[in-house]
Amino acid sequence: MAGMKEAQDVLTLLRAYLPSAALGAALELGLFWRLSEGPLSVEDLAREWSIPLRRCHIWLEVLASLDLLERRPGGYALSDRARREIVETYSRDAWETLALEARERYPAGQDLALHLATPGSVWDLLGRRPPNYVEQMAADPGRARRFVRMWHELREPLAEEVADLLDLRGVDRVMDLGGGSGVVSLALLRRCPTLSAIVVDIENVCAAGREIAERTPLLRDRIAYQPLDILHDELPGGFDLVIECKVGVYEQALFERVRRALNQGGRFVLIDELPPEGQDPPIDHLRYAFHNALRDPDFALPAREQVSGLLEAAGFDLVLEQILQAGGRLLETRKR
Ligand SMILES: C[S@@+](CC[C@H](N)C(=O)[O-])C[C@H]1O[C@@H](n2cnc3c(N)ncnc32)[C@H](O)[C@@H]1O
Repeated sequence: MAGMKEAQDVLTLLRAYLPSAALGAALELGLFWRLSEGPLSVEDLAREWSIPLRRCHIWLEVLASLDLLERRPGGYALSDRARREIVETYSRDAWETLALEARERYPAGQDLALHLATPGSVWDLLGRRPPNYVEQMAADPGRARRFVRMWHELREPLAEEVADLLDLRGVDRVMDLGGGSGVVSLALLRRCPTLSAIVVDIENVCAAGREIAERTPLLRDRIAYQPLDILHDELPGGFDLVIECKVGVYEQALFERVRRALNQGGRFVLIDELPPEGQDPPIDHLRYAFHNALRDPDFALPAREQVSGLLEAAGFDLVLEQILQAGGRLLETRKR
């Protein structure tokens, strides 16, 4: 790690699961929002969540050591950093969902020294199933709503950047594959008053996305949500533009169905991390890859060359490639 210089840094990293868990609990319980009105004593906070007093005190001290809380005469208060970077950056619901996802992934690291050599999934050795976010959302509409709202918030800067980048002249109908809330489509609709969009995703996600679109009276009649399994179902046709943003499904069979769904000269835009082959991925991609490799020892991040090869084989020509400031790579292709 870049900041690791001394043995003490190694020890700190070794024990980092503890502050990570303390932070996750604070986000899931809503501690930072509870303190945003003013300081509260350790007794009040311990009572509120029925936490044993001494444990609660140490938990708050751990958060203070991370510069997220401050000790004040009235008790513990929010630090400027926590107000700025947590409370004022994303909603409480979004942080809660991010912390929940992190907690569900923790077990993969349990007993790792004993499990690393397993030829299969470390989750099997733990007697657990790895979290699968699509299955979780399919089984639980509430879970789908949380996920969709969180990604809608986090994805807005990327959606705006993509909408600024794409040339929408001559585009009347857009399909947003695995479009979630439809955040990218909504950004495109804001740019172009004659455009309409169809978001395809699993049923519970479509329902949650529709709720978000309903909040925008000027756009809601131009966006539809169609439940579909993009891995297996035939796609509707007659589109000028198809977008797949951070869905991670890269199969020639899907790309061929996308080609059939496009009008003559239609474009297919793919956005994801897509690191170039042989290049060291950034640290976030590496952690994501490690998480996946614990489930599937053969997991590899899809490389730019691999995906552009599949696009080429499915009948698309690359017309634009762009690294996005909001993160990731955009490949714009045209139906041959
Ligand atoms: C990480 S989200 C990205 C959502 C949106 N494109 C965005 O950029 O915010 C991936 C989406 O793909 C959807 N998805 C994954 N597999 C799918 C499948 N087989 N059929 C339909 N949707 C799928 C998920 O439900 C989820 O909404």
